[in-house]
Amino acid sequence: MTQVSFEASFQKKIDEEIMIEPQDYMPDEYRKTLIRQISQHAHSEIVGMLPEANWITRAPSLRRKAVLLAKVQDEGGHGLYLYSAAETLGITRDQMLHQLHTGVAKYSSIFNYPTITWADMGAIGWLVDGAAIMNQVPLCRTSYGPYARAMVRVCKEESFHQRQGFEIMLNLSKGTPVQKQMAQDALNRWWAPALMMFGPLDAVSPNTAKSMEWRIKRFTNDELRQRFIDVTVDQIRLLGLALPDENIKWNEERGHYDSSELNWDEFWNVVKGNGPCNKERLATRVKAWEDGAWVREAASAYAEKRKTKKAA
Ligand code: 3HC
Repeated sequence: MTQVSFEASFQKKIDEEIMIEPQDYMPDEYRKTLIRQISQHAHSEIVGMLPEANWITRAPSLRRKAVLLAKVQDEGGHGLYLYSAAETLGITRDQMLHQLHTGVAKYSSIFNYPTITWADMGAIGWLVDGAAIMNQVPLCRTSYGPYARAMVRVCKEESFHQRQGFEIMLNLSKGTPVQKQMAQDALNRWWAPALMMFGPLDAVSPNTAKSMEWRIKRFTNDELRQRFIDVTVDQIRLLGLALPDENIKWNEERGHYDSSELNWDEFWNVVKGNGPCNKERLATRVKAWEDGAWVREAASAYAEKRKTKKAA
């Protein structure tokens, strides 16, 4: 078969909704963009543990502490599923983590914002995990098998994450005036960064068109962002909180909510590493990696010993 027919038969499988598996032929560019997206997704999960970990020791009750602990642990597990899915494409865990620790790889900009009050735990669970669900449910049907299968389990756990966050916001918004204001402040701070999680406008996205053709993405960045706005505005009203953007208005003609243009300078500034917490997040990750070196060495030494014992 010629290269052209390989490519043609690959695209035919994609168009016929046949999952691509690790052992199948795939164009280098398809493999490359999957490694890019899946590894950065995994990095986002791991770095995403940090903003919430900041509140585990300060949760207002044992129940809240236990729920937050479970959520943060889930995120670690999501990272491991996704690193494993990326490894099926030929990149090693060490290579991916080196890319993260040296700033070569990206992770979601949302995790570079500080978590100032307990209400941030509510806003993150409700908005950030809510946005993640909006983005990840279609990924359960992404064309690459290991990624799609990892997403099925991730999405089940994300629903718990989103639910517990909304419950925190509901309790606060129905609480004292100070608690309600805390919830409003968190909504105001997390709304725009959460919308930026869906990526840049389709018009400037270098990856979306190809990702749609290869059915890695099922919807574009703008489509998912709009869906998220449409479902979340009603939830804000249910909480009895003020809309975080004065330009949010239902547009009968479009059948969607209109909203303000996002601050894309802020977005690219944070993506480029100049957000409020970028340096702190990366330093924490690098320190955890270095502090864990002895565990990796002990595990490899033990594995080596067992291997030689078996061989003897
Ligand atoms: N933060 C950081 N970088 C971002 C970004 C964001 N919010 N949005 C886009 N980018 C980067 C892209 O990675 C790309 O850079 P690269 O080519 O060097 O990788 C560039 O900006 C242009 O963006 P594109 O839209 O062209 O890139 P994609 O087609 O990859 O779309 C995406 C971006 C929508 C984030 C897509 O990669 C995706 O769907 N990824 C999987 C989901 C994911 O990673 N979510 C992150 C949050 S995970 C999470 O929230 C966990 C939850 O449990 C809390």
